[in-house]
Amino acid sequence: MSSVTVRVPAKVNVQLAVGPLRDDGYHDLVNVFHAVSLFDEVVAKESEAVTVRVEGANVEQVPLDDSNLAIQAARALAKHAGRTYGVELIIRKAIPVAGGMAGGSADAAGALVACNELWGLGLPREDLMEIAADLGSDVPFSLLGGTAVGTGRGEQLTPVPARGRFHWVFAVADGGLSTATVYGECDRLREATGEKVAWPQVSEPLLAALREGDAAGLGALLANDLQPAAVMLRRSLARTLEVGQELGALGAIVSGSGPTCAFLAAGEEQAEELAVALMGAGVCRTAVTAYGEVPGAQIVAA
Ligand code: C5P
Repeated sequence: MSSVTVRVPAKVNVQLAVGPLRDDGYHDLVNVFHAVSLFDEVVAKESEAVTVRVEGANVEQVPLDDSNLAIQAARALAKHAGRTYGVELIIRKAIPVAGGMAGGSADAAGALVACNELWGLGLPREDLMEIAADLGSDVPFSLLGGTAVGTGRGEQLTPVPARGRFHWVFAVADGGLSTATVYGECDRLREATGEKVAWPQVSEPLLAALREGDAAGLGALLANDLQPAAVMLRRSLARTLEVGQELGALGAIVSGSGPTCAFLAAGEEQAEELAVALMGAGVCRTAVTAYGEVPGAQIVAA
């Protein structure tokens, strides 16, 4: 086999409850992940060395050295197998870079699945999940896909049922936000306001809305504890969210650590209209539609 292509989805967090800061610098979370039909493609080709090339919009922000998460994934997999392998990784990016939609995690998950196949390792998904958790808190979900509750730092996953299709619009901002900076700002805001940080709890009504395919119910229950921090760091997001709501979105939320804003629409047509209206209102660089849920990292060509 000389080449393997894997498709990996973006995610939106329909609930992100951030608990207290832990001793290891992470926060305990309740993170309800939902995979959406915005996909990066990771191609793995036979090669002597481990290299990466990235194609798509705003990809100049993606590092090409050992800090690239897909490179780290390939190296971690080779180490797990106890061998030295090379691979040429080509990442075709559609997921916004540093946008709060787990684009980097998607590429790492894609690299794991692609290299596992290219190198003929045949490792089961459970092994890939373990390696994924060491690479980043969101990488296991990029492998799993669908809809799932993440606990711990987000890496311990329990799939939950979601009925039908939810239609989303993602308002992509200019430039990204660093996840670590947004968590840091969240801590700072909490300290400044003296907010008592509760242990994160999953919202049962939100799980019911997912289970029942109730878009209006889900829209009203979208919740993200990182939103105030993301808005504080990028003030223009407040206006983006407000305009989306005025334009009839069922719910509006910052996606993960931002700066992408996610809007839930009643159907496909409403999502298309909302995307056009958001772009017309000039409150984002671009707006794209997607639906969820979709599966996690999958081989599409080998
Ligand atoms: O796990 P990952 O590398 O994606 O996390 C990036 C950063 O986000 C961490 O270094 C940490 O600052 C923050 N984070 C956190 N609590 C989590 C997940 C991430 O504080 N549960």
